[in-house]
Amino acid sequence: MVKDIKKIVLSYSGGLDTSIILKWLQETYKCEVVTFTADLGQSEELEPARAKAEMLGIKDIRIVDVREEFVRDFVFPMFRANTVYEGQYLLGSSIARPLIAKHLVRIAQEVGADAISHGATGKGNDQVRFELTVNALDPSIKVIAPWREWDIQSRTQLIEYAERNQIPVPKDKRGEAPFSIDANLLHTSSEGKVLEDPADIAPDYIYQRTVDPVDAPNVPEIITIGFEKGDAVSLNGVKLTPATLLTRLNELGGKHGVGRIDLVENRFVGMKSRGVYETPGGTILLAAHRGIESITLDRGAAHLKDEIMPRYAELIYNGFWYAPEREMLQALIDRSQTHVAGEVTVKLHKGSASVIARSSANSLYSMDLVTFEEGSGSYDHHDAEGFIKLNGLRLKTLAARNKRLGH
Ligand code: ARG
Repeated sequence: MVKDIKKIVLSYSGGLDTSIILKWLQETYKCEVVTFTADLGQSEELEPARAKAEMLGIKDIRIVDVREEFVRDFVFPMFRANTVYEGQYLLGSSIARPLIAKHLVRIAQEVGADAISHGATGKGNDQVRFELTVNALDPSIKVIAPWREWDIQSRTQLIEYAERNQIPVPKDKRGEAPFSIDANLLHTSSEGKVLEDPADIAPDYIYQRTVDPVDAPNVPEIITIGFEKGDAVSLNGVKLTPATLLTRLNELGGKHGVGRIDLVENRFVGMKSRGVYETPGGTILLAAHRGIESITLDRGAAHLKDEIMPRYAELIYNGFWYAPEREMLQALIDRSQTHVAGEVTVKLHKGSASVIARSSANSLYSMDLVTFEEGSGSYDHHDAEGFIKLNGLRLKTLAARNKRLGH
């Protein structure tokens, strides 16, 4: 346990758990606590967080709208790489942690705090992501992780602690929460409790921002997304800021049941965990970005990006956003996006987001080359003969040897 702390900046949601943490920090470290609440588009009222922090005696309360920064500087750079962890997870929680930790560090520096604190538990990835970011941005700042320090072991003990300390406990928070939620503009993640056994089908009530595809409109909706330098910039011809655009895509995707996924992932800390994610806007964006890349990226560039993507995804998942190797890969990815511009038409229908048309002034697609009709002559059919012959040479040699040996 870290001793002699003078001031702490706490990542504060306003919920019961972080309110208890707030009280516990004041009691344990007997020092001033500053709260930081990030508006990440979690679609929760944040003013109650201010009132609660005030009630708990906090003088310096910071509530910051970081939605544009989140999408512009974290989500979009990540989407340039078509990033998916273990083939399925769009990293909605992972990508928000470095941003929150960055602000905790900034505020700590501003107010002269020597520590930051967070409410992530001792079994998850989020503690790692918060703390690696703090290490990378300001190694002098200490981290206090109450869930790893205090002796509160159960929900009952947590409620008792709250009651002893005059922290109001909402009725629905008395019992165990049926599962744990993390939400922001990119996704809603649900895990734990009723979802813990991967053999059990997730109950319908866990879904927060998407309709069941079965109940989605029978009529498809066709949308157009415009791209510049690999980032989405417009929807149906209207320019939008990054956060507004993602908000709109979330509404559209949610309405059509797009972006639900139920999976088991490998946590960095070594265990497997089952999660249900809803990433409506992100799922549309990923499909659309692949669509625009398909006509604007050269094959060599596209394949190289795809090769490094799993490594890049793993770095983000594991909390290494501010590590040099993530920044090096980012430079490579960003460089590839220079000509990734144009328009993609996507059809939303009963849980799917399918690209149905794409166009770009920078397109590499050549109708002349690909046409079944006679082209302009830059492609000579006879060249294909030699091309296949040379590529087949080693295969022929192998087959001849195998025949000789009777294999
Ligand atoms: N397993 C996800 C990740 O590590 C989500 C973690 C937070 N989600 C939650 N429901 N508490 O990125």
